[in-house]
Amino acid sequence: MATMSPTILSLYRLLDPEVLADPYPLYRQLRDEAPVYWDPYLHVWVVTRHRDVVEVLRRFSAQRVPSAEKLGELGLAHLSPIARLMAEQMLFLDPPQHTRVRALVAAAFTPRRVEALRDHIQEVADTLVDAVSRQGGMDVMPDFAHRLPAIVMTRTLGTPAADYPRLKAWSEAFSDMLGAIQHNPGVAAGLLTRLEDMTSYFRAAVRQQATGPATGLVAEIAAAEVDGDSLSEDEAVVNLILTMVGAYETTSHLIGSGLLTLLRTPTELDRLRADPDLMPSAVDEMLRYESPIQYTARLALADTEFRGEHIAPGQAVLALIGAANRDPDQFPDPDRVDITRRDNHHLAFGWANHFCLGAVLARAESAIALSTLIRRLPEIGLSAEPVRWRSNPAFRGPASLTVAF
Ligand code: HEM
Repeated sequence: MATMSPTILSLYRLLDPEVLADPYPLYRQLRDEAPVYWDPYLHVWVVTRHRDVVEVLRRFSAQRVPSAEKLGELGLAHLSPIARLMAEQMLFLDPPQHTRVRALVAAAFTPRRVEALRDHIQEVADTLVDAVSRQGGMDVMPDFAHRLPAIVMTRTLGTPAADYPRLKAWSEAFSDMLGAIQHNPGVAAGLLTRLEDMTSYFRAAVRQQATGPATGLVAEIAAAEVDGDSLSEDEAVVNLILTMVGAYETTSHLIGSGLLTLLRTPTELDRLRADPDLMPSAVDEMLRYESPIQYTARLALADTEFRGEHIAPGQAVLALIGAANRDPDQFPDPDRVDITRRDNHHLAFGWANHFCLGAVLARAESAIALSTLIRRLPEIGLSAEPVRWRSNPAFRGPASLTVAF
């Protein structure tokens, strides 16, 4: 993309690799100069202050997947199969439909299930470090950060571990489409070609696990019952896909950018090494400082007054989680990394009724991953190669992160 002048306030500037590598000056400018503004290039409202992002996530509708008619009007009818699938995922539903589906999935995906995965996560982290420990260096993203959540996810779902590269490729294709801020026919086509495979895979897993002695999330979600109600097969399939997509990239990115942040702030790394019990609060600071999901969207269903602006029905609002998490009105000295930060009410897992359903698993995986890396590779340090960020402005994380040890 041609570099856009820094005087133009638009999120479109995130397509400039330099801005993408460090979006925080742009976010600061937005928070200070135009905290609620209509983006002239993206045709959406953009909201950047912490209290406003909270308010948007509370007040606006999550039901933002365009209908088949709307897609037709936009000349995007070929995307209807993707839209149909997303429209049934809980992330895009409002109450009461959302409450019902979420309760059923949450009944299957409990904190106890995560507790039972801890030893497995540790085993995977150790195996991945064993594989590289004599090499003297690695690219953390392909060698470690992408693999760990992918392997753990197959165990969580109860699907064969050997399937993890496929699940990961599907998840990447899905998130590429979700994160795009411009229409990108190539990305949509990439997902369309995989859609059939992905849904068939989960449909077969649901049917197979329903009849076998399975213990994974696929079986549990398909069998979950609340007050005599259960999910249809289609609902189970699309929400399993959501769980998979929600779990992979985000957790990989948190491990990668969390490690990067620690290596760039050696005083905090030393504090953590001296007191490993600080890891839970360190993980939350990593979530705040480099939020893996930088923004999400909501829709106005009716005329809405918001901080003096008029938002019309049908207009979308982008809630900039990444900007809210650096808001000085909420976080003293927001650009400083402080692994013991108090009252760290970051929005990295969202807010209100769509608060991340996998937060307990994400925190456990990242804490085990980061502890294992810094304990088992005591000499770990950044190599001279510059960090490359993933070119997806919504899903923030390193594309490549080379370290020596
Ligand atoms: C560091 C890792 C993660 C981050 C930063 C993250 C972030 C988020 C955010 C911001 C939302 C809310 C989006 C919105 O309101 O529009 C969300 C929702 C969700 N996440 Fe996560 N997530 C992570 C890991 C996971 C994992 C590991 C899973 C599953 C195993 C998961 C499953 C979900 C699901 C199912 C939802 C939808 C909840 C609903 O709509 O009620 N996430 N996540």
